[in-house]
Amino acid sequence: MEHRETADATVKLAASILAADFTRLGNEIEAVTAAGADYIHIDVMDGRFVPPITMGQMIVEAARRSTSLPLDVHLMVSDPDRQIAPTAAAGADMITVHVEASNSLDRVLDLIKASGAKAGVAINPATPVAEIESSLPSADRVLAMTVHPGYAGQRFLHEVLPKIEKIRALLDSIGSSAELAVDGGVDADTAPLAAAAGADVLVAATAIFKSGGSIERAVTQLRRSLAVPSTARG
Ligand code: DX5
Ligand code: ZN
Repeated sequence: MEHRETADATVKLAASILAADFTRLGNEIEAVTAAGADYIHIDVMDGRFVPPITMGQMIVEAARRSTSLPLDVHLMVSDPDRQIAPTAAAGADMITVHVEASNSLDRVLDLIKASGAKAGVAINPATPVAEIESSLPSADRVLAMTVHPGYAGQRFLHEVLPKIEKIRALLDSIGSSAELAVDGGVDADTAPLAAAAGADVLVAATAIFKSGGSIERAVTQLRRSLAVPSTARG
């Protein structure tokens, strides 16, 4: 397996608002936009596919009015088919569904594309890559979960790194330009590992919105962690 020697400085950052302060959501989205995030990541949870209920189309629509960044909506819901059209209508630029929640993944990906959004497939830590392999040619994004979905603030599961490398190799082998995104426990320590395994996009909630410092400084620290070879950091 080919490894990238150093993290790629062109890796994009998706700011997950799951750890934002919802009393001032518009300000938080504006701050992370000004800080240079590349996407706003919106974690929709339905209380069935995962235990929590978080947010839905109303928040997507509010986020749409708060930023010009692309809205990257991560649907952690059972029966995602029913949510595609309303989520796209609310302003999502990219909609990602879980392979574990989709009876017919290819059909859902087609539905997303027909809605005008880019189509992503998410895969949980315990799900084998084989479950998404045949759908990779239809995907605009693969979202590899490095935590069990449901909550912000969990620890990055290092055992997923070989799976990220495998997905990277599969995408490269079919000449796909799909983005490979990594979601869960991403911080300045784990970001370089995910990037070295082949991630193009890193999703982070806690490391951006609950770093203890400003959002701007948190984004800068994540970027800096990617720009420096992991052996030279200290
Ligand atoms: C987890 C969500 C993630 C989460 C990441 O189920 O899909 O996007 O917000 O949170 P952190 O970055 O805190 O692990
Ligand atoms: Zn997510």
